[in-house]
Amino acid sequence: MSVAATDRRHLLGLEGLPRGEILSLLEAAEGLQDAASGRSDARDRLAGRVIANLFFEDSTRTRNSFNIAAIRLGADTIDLTGRGSSVSKGESVLDTALTIEAMGVDALVVRSSDAGAPAMIADAVECSVINAGDGCHEHPTQGLIDLLSLQQRWKDFSGRRIGIVGDIAASRVARSNVHGFTTMGADVVLVGPPTLTPASFEKIAAGPGRVTVSHDLDAILPEIDAIMMLRVQFERHSPGAIADDYRARYGLTRERFSQLRSDAVVLHPGPMNRGLEIDAEVADDPQRSLILRQVANGVAVRMAVLTRCLSRR
Ligand code: CP
Repeated sequence: MSVAATDRRHLLGLEGLPRGEILSLLEAAEGLQDAASGRSDARDRLAGRVIANLFFEDSTRTRNSFNIAAIRLGADTIDLTGRGSSVSKGESVLDTALTIEAMGVDALVVRSSDAGAPAMIADAVECSVINAGDGCHEHPTQGLIDLLSLQQRWKDFSGRRIGIVGDIAASRVARSNVHGFTTMGADVVLVGPPTLTPASFEKIAAGPGRVTVSHDLDAILPEIDAIMMLRVQFERHSPGAIADDYRARYGLTRERFSQLRSDAVVLHPGPMNRGLEIDAEVADDPQRSLILRQVANGVAVRMAVLTRCLSRR
């Protein structure tokens, strides 16, 4: 039996998550900003709960901000990675999840290179499961972070046009953001080389925002309110799959940055290949790069998600 997107015990993706649920998570995250940065105390919220981070794939931002979010909410955490656990002896991801659940944890935060692994685990366990990125499928908390970072600038998404540029085919962030942005009413244009930007992406969102695909980055720059650059995920492609002229055609160079509207903002979920998909001067722009704001928002968003999933039913 598969878990419904509206089952508040889990967060497996942004696909099918209603606008009202997204708004409520963004509002909760905004209200938790002080607690996320330690300026107020929210440790009574999840005191006595135990959250297990099961990261079968590497991470800096997601894993550590889930940890900090849990600490800020008063929960205890355990950390398990593929290396150093019995996964290295061949134990399956599902057996690992069932084993950790049997120790009495309240939530499993799961990152895996296999699309669908968190949903498979959610079908098998009683505790909460949160998708921290599964293969090329979804990265819902990153999608919420990106929504919050833009909402702090704009207040409203309707009438906005957002470019997502680069390695779309391999990007779980792109998938979650297509669902999140279009549900909130923004239009999305996906830009990249034909091999990395499948036309099938135009059909994955339910709206009300629209999704289009383009292979001409220069043409869309003057039309967009925000541009999200994606990391070229060399580890998910065969050698030679990324053309040598990638930066020349799809990199957000200083020259291209100057072609954007003067109030357009720049996002990147990280980690970045500086000098490939984005120039350092653009990534570090103090006014219009939201990249470190995205990272900072990660703690508050994950606090909101943990609170929602672990609220006593
Ligand atoms: N954005 C993101 O998921 O980064 P990490 O891989 O470092 O967690």
